[in-house]
Amino acid sequence: MPGKNKLEVFPTLLTIVLLLMLSGCGETKHGEVRDVGVEGSSIIRLPSREDYAKIPLNDAIRKQKATREFAGGGISLEALSALLWASSGLKQDSGNGDITGATRNTPSAGAIYPFTIYLVLRGAVFRYSPVGHYLKRIRAHISGSDIARAACDQEAVSDANCVFVLSADFGKTEAKYKERAERYVYMEAGFIAQNVVLEASSLDLGSVVIGAFDDNAVRDILGIAANERPVCLIAVGKRRSSGSSQR
Ligand SMILES: Cc1cc2nc3c(=O)[nH]c(=O)nc-3n(C[C@H](O)[C@H](O)[C@H](O)COP(=O)(O)O)c2cc1C
Repeated sequence: MPGKNKLEVFPTLLTIVLLLMLSGCGETKHGEVRDVGVEGSSIIRLPSREDYAKIPLNDAIRKQKATREFAGGGISLEALSALLWASSGLKQDSGNGDITGATRNTPSAGAIYPFTIYLVLRGAVFRYSPVGHYLKRIRAHISGSDIARAACDQEAVSDANCVFVLSADFGKTEAKYKERAERYVYMEAGFIAQNVVLEASSLDLGSVVIGAFDDNAVRDILGIAANERPVCLIAVGKRRSSGSSQR
């Protein structure tokens, strides 16, 4: 009977439409600001990197100040994409791991790239993969105050929208550069950190570089491998109105 079929088909169509709408939650459109949901998915595919910067480089440099007071809330997937790309994204990546001679967005002695970028975001820890430009969740259910405690209880760390953790495998660089390696790795941390804070500034976000933390505590909380050492944290987020204070 046609009438009965329509009644049967309508809820099915409605379900399909709702499922399609929900499946779009992880996707983004340019300019659209959404919170990043971390529940239920261990991989966050980042939107292809476009020019999200709101202000020119010179203005970003001028505007960059240590921010320690954050407004809270979420951070858009576009902003995360841009920040991670700036930190150690690849110059060219087909998205299929099909890379020929690609270098990254920060210099590295011997193109060794000893750093892994971890991100503490909404109670979970993610590892950034430059190849394929995605985040993989490696640990869930860590509290913002855990990582802050490891950083001398600095409120900027617990209040930020996300915290970048720059972690280095010194051994990779030492294998080639011996006693010069340590200085090279610290130099590289500076390049990465500067890219992140300037990208944050260009996105009209605040950030602060954090050097005061307990290496072992940060490594344990994040689940970082024993051959790596965290070198630098960067707290990033929306500034609270007058979110800059000197230290
Ligand atoms: C290596 C290094 C470590 C830092 N560690 C911290 C830190 O643990 N906590 C903090 O609030 N600021 C930290 N800062 C930020 C400085 O305090 C800040 O850059 C300085 O006060 C100058 O302010 P400005 O960046 O706004 O010009 C650090 C900066 C650097 C370069």
